[in-house]
Amino acid sequence: MGLTGFFLITFLIVHCLINSMIFFNDGGQTFNHWAHFMGTNLIIRIMEIGLFVFLLLHIIQGLMLWQQNKAARPIAYAVSHPERNSAWYSRSMGLLGTLILLFLVLHLYHFWVPSRFGGMASIQPLEPVSLSDYANQEAHNLYREMQIVFQNVWVVIIYVFGVFSLCWHLMHGFQSAFQTFGINHKKYTPIIKTIGMAYSIVICVLFALMPISIYMGWVN
Ligand code: HEM
Repeated sequence: MGLTGFFLITFLIVHCLINSMIFFNDGGQTFNHWAHFMGTNLIIRIMEIGLFVFLLLHIIQGLMLWQQNKAARPIAYAVSHPERNSAWYSRSMGLLGTLILLFLVLHLYHFWVPSRFGGMASIQPLEPVSLSDYANQEAHNLYREMQIVFQNVWVVIIYVFGVFSLCWHLMHGFQSAFQTFGINHKKYTPIIKTIGMAYSIVICVLFALMPISIYMGWVN
C-alpha cells in the first residue's frame, strides 16, 4: 500500500500543478497547452496505464487489509475507546477511500472518458469559444469541459466533498506510507507528519478552489 500510495501522492502533485494553471486567468490557454502535452506524450500515456494499475492495486490492498483486520479480531472489544489512541481519519481510511472512489467514477466520466474517447484534448486550435457556441463546436478543450461541468452547483458540491474526503485520507495515508517502509523515527516521524498535513491541505484546497472558482466566475 505504501508504494502504490507514494505513486498516487506524486500523481496528485502533477495533476494539481497542471490544473492550477487555470488560475492564470488566460482563458485556459496555459492549462490546455499542458493538458494537451500530457494527453499526447507517449511516456505520460504509458505512465497513465501504471496509474490505473496502481489505483486498482491500492484499492485491492486496502480491501485485503480491512479483511485481515476484521479476521484478526472477530469478536469486538467489549470496551473500546478508539478515539483515545488514534485519530478519526486513521480509523476511517476504508470509508474515506470508498467516498473517493465514488467521486473518481464521476470524475473520470466527466473528463477522462470524453478526453480519451472523444478526442477532446487533442483538438487544435484552442482559442476560447463562447459557452453558447460550445455545443455546436467540433473543437473541444478540457478547460471548456470544466466550465460546462462546473456550471452545476450539485457537481461543485460533490467535488468539494470528494476533495474533502481525499484530504482526510491523505492526512493519515502520507505518513502511513513512510511507516510502511520502516521509516518510524522519534525525530523524523513528527516532521514527516507535518509535511503530510501541509501537503494534504495545500493540494486539497487548490483542488477544491477549481470547481468553486469556475462556478463563481472567479476564473474565466
Ligand atoms: C477537483 C478538481 C479537479 C479537477 C478540475 C480535475 C480535472 C481533471 C481533468 C480535466 C482530467 C482529464 C485530464 C486528461 O484527460 O488529460 C482529469 C483526469 C483525472 N483526474 Fe482529476 N481533477 C480534479 C481532482 C482530482 C482528484 C482529487 C483526483 C484523485 C483523487 C483526480 C484524479 C484523476 C484521474 C485518476 C484522472 C485520469 C488520469 C489521466 O488523465 O491520466 N482528479 N482530472
